[in-house]
Amino acid sequence: MTKRVFSAFTASGHLTLGNFLGAMLPAVRLQDEADCVYAVADLHALTVKHDPARLRARTREMATMLLACGLDRSLVYIQSQVPAHTALAFLLESTAYFGEMRRMIQFKEKSAKQEEVRLSLLTYPALMAADILLHRAHFIPVGEDQRQHVELTRDLAIRFNRLYGETFTVPEAVHPPVAARVMDLTVPTSKMSKSDGSAAGTIYLLDPPADIHRKIMRAVTDTGTEVRYDPQDKPGVSNLLAMLAACSGQPVESLVYDGYGALKRDTAEAVVETLRPLQERHAELSSDQAELSRILAAGAERAADRTAGLMAAAREAIGLS
Ligand code: TYM
Repeated sequence: MTKRVFSAFTASGHLTLGNFLGAMLPAVRLQDEADCVYAVADLHALTVKHDPARLRARTREMATMLLACGLDRSLVYIQSQVPAHTALAFLLESTAYFGEMRRMIQFKEKSAKQEEVRLSLLTYPALMAADILLHRAHFIPVGEDQRQHVELTRDLAIRFNRLYGETFTVPEAVHPPVAARVMDLTVPTSKMSKSDGSAAGTIYLLDPPADIHRKIMRAVTDTGTEVRYDPQDKPGVSNLLAMLAACSGQPVESLVYDGYGALKRDTAEAVVETLRPLQERHAELSSDQAELSRILAAGAERAADRTAGLMAAAREAIGLS
């Protein structure tokens, strides 16, 4: 049986190298063996303070980037254009418990940084579970930071199936062997993030080559000069080694350096070369906005068709008329 794959990207900022190595590249590779669906999660971007015009622009930029990185062989669409996502999310909010939502690490971290915490920040994992379960996905390519949300999705699927009858496929997260958690270049103990990282420590997929070189050459390294993959004791160097391994396709153990300078130069070069074709394709696709709108509208229509059956089954199972 063909396996189904789903993943999504929150339109909360410009896509980063973390998003690319943690989820986009694995997603591209899965296209050869599975039926893949990828979405721009614009609804998820409403969970924190946002600017409407910016959100709209970022959503399109992100969709363009997903197509540009090679996911144009998959079904790509914008989450909010398929209303079943929010409809199913409510059924899953009615399956989840307040206690388990409150325990989510991302909720705890993000809510601690804000005075006014939107209610959707708390319930967001139910929407993410809806995204996944709607597509009856088996595998979810994601970075390490989303592991807990996929675990919760599994719990909700199992609980719903037990309470109301077999309805959902229980999904599994898949992480890349290296670079499942790319760290900020200036603070290698924090995750590289599109929404709350430092500009100097974050490589954006559309950064010009000179910026990428500069950011990597200035990356914080660790005390001592030894180049060794050890994320605990040498987070800065290990982060560079992981980026280089993921971009060059070489196993991390085979990367031998006797100083930081050469490692940084090779890492910068590998990242620039990895992003070059993607940036070129992004420029091409951006020049035809009408075609982009057409692709996304067709994607949303197909996604709505494909998920209607599951939505009807979930409604029936839970007792809606
Ligand atoms: P988001 O938008 O924060 O990130 C998108 C994807 O990129 C991965 N990622 C990273 N991987 C490695 N290193 C990093 N520094 C790094 N930063 C981000 C994330 O793990 C993710 O795979 N809630 C999700 C979006 C979402 C989703 C879904 C994902 C909504 N619905 C359904 C999977 C399935 C999020 O905010 O990811």
